[in-house]
Amino acid sequence: MSRSDGWKLFCIGCGTPASTELPDSTCRKCGDLLEIRLPRDTDGSSLFAGRGPGIWRFRSALPFSQDVEPVSLEEGGTPLVRSRLFAARVGLDNLYAKNDGQNPTGSFKDRGMSVAVTRAKTLGARALICASTGNTAASLAAYAARAGMDAVVVVPKAGVASGKLGQAFAYGAKVFGMEGNFDKALATVFELVRTDDRFYLMNSVNPFRIEGQKIAAFEIYEQLGCVPDCIVLPVGNAGNISAIWKGFKELRGLGLANALPRMIGVQAEGAAPLAEAYRSGRPFKPLKEPNTVASAIRIGNPVSWKKAFSAISESGGGAVVVNDEEIMETKNRLAKEEGLLVEAASAAPFAALTKLKLPQGANVVCIATGNGLKDLSDHGGNQRIVSADGPEAISKAVGTPDLLS
Ligand SMILES: Cc1ncc(COP(=O)(O)O)c(C=O)c1O
Ligand SMILES: [Zn+2]
Repeated sequence: MSRSDGWKLFCIGCGTPASTELPDSTCRKCGDLLEIRLPRDTDGSSLFAGRGPGIWRFRSALPFSQDVEPVSLEEGGTPLVRSRLFAARVGLDNLYAKNDGQNPTGSFKDRGMSVAVTRAKTLGARALICASTGNTAASLAAYAARAGMDAVVVVPKAGVASGKLGQAFAYGAKVFGMEGNFDKALATVFELVRTDDRFYLMNSVNPFRIEGQKIAAFEIYEQLGCVPDCIVLPVGNAGNISAIWKGFKELRGLGLANALPRMIGVQAEGAAPLAEAYRSGRPFKPLKEPNTVASAIRIGNPVSWKKAFSAISESGGGAVVVNDEEIMETKNRLAKEEGLLVEAASAAPFAALTKLKLPQGANVVCIATGNGLKDLSDHGGNQRIVSADGPEAISKAVGTPDLLS
């Protein structure tokens, strides 16, 4: 039996084991989240020896028996791009962007979706459901299509980037819009899954999503050749910070790395309940009306807040707030100074760097979680179009100081 056959499910709250045969995401005893654990293995040498594209080359670390065929679009394996101008601007010599916008549907969600849809297939699920601020919807829709399953996505009626909605429609999902915010959409989906067993829950409370997303840690370790000093990433529902932390802990558990990164979560002012609890030292309290330009992280009640707190406190990391202006300014700079077009939420970790006061030589990886092509609303396609009918007009226009800096 390989290591990946022996996986188990445990509750993060009361520690009770859960059935591996059921589609549950939460503990039947106390309601807390479930976590997958693979058997301890002191020999990790096979982890990086796997072949194949994307995350599935790490299948010895994924909870499936070897005969399970993955539902995959070759997700993962995204570039780790070294920053130059922006790094100098924030006083860092070794700053990297893990460009997860280059995943098949343009966001980090794809690693976890591949794994969770593969799980859905082994369970014989037909209809897959999620609440979403946009990227989960796009990703679920694509992987459901790939697997020949139905996708149902529930989004806030207002504020979801049109590119993300367009993706969900294009891949054939049924899209439902609700008044109110993401937290309300997620509560509705939880209730639906509880009362209607035709639906399998695909939000990041699903522990299989976390298993896929943890692979980003293995990729970063391999690309950098070491464990970075810090991982800085945007936090919304707090699945990704939990997942990447789990990945690094597993690397250490396998004896492959003896260090761990500091995990630094970044939230937008107006949607920062985790950072607020961290700053004040008071118990976590959900926020009723989250509000930020970064719609992907416009979340007031992160379901994985406990896991995120563990990641931050165990790693000696932190939680930081950036405001909308800082986010948008950074988003524009990344595009203009690095050629890196990310969505607003993904600019948040870069915007936080000057507040963190990291040593100049630290190895820092920011997770660029989503592709800026999904939401070009603030770049207004015709913002700077200059009328020019013919070569002379262009020469003349280029000569104006307004156009050439
Ligand atoms: C682009 C982007 N960045 C960050 C996040 C936040 O990730 P998490 O909800 O796992 O904290 C999301 C979630 O939708 C996202 O779409
Ligand atoms: Zn429990």
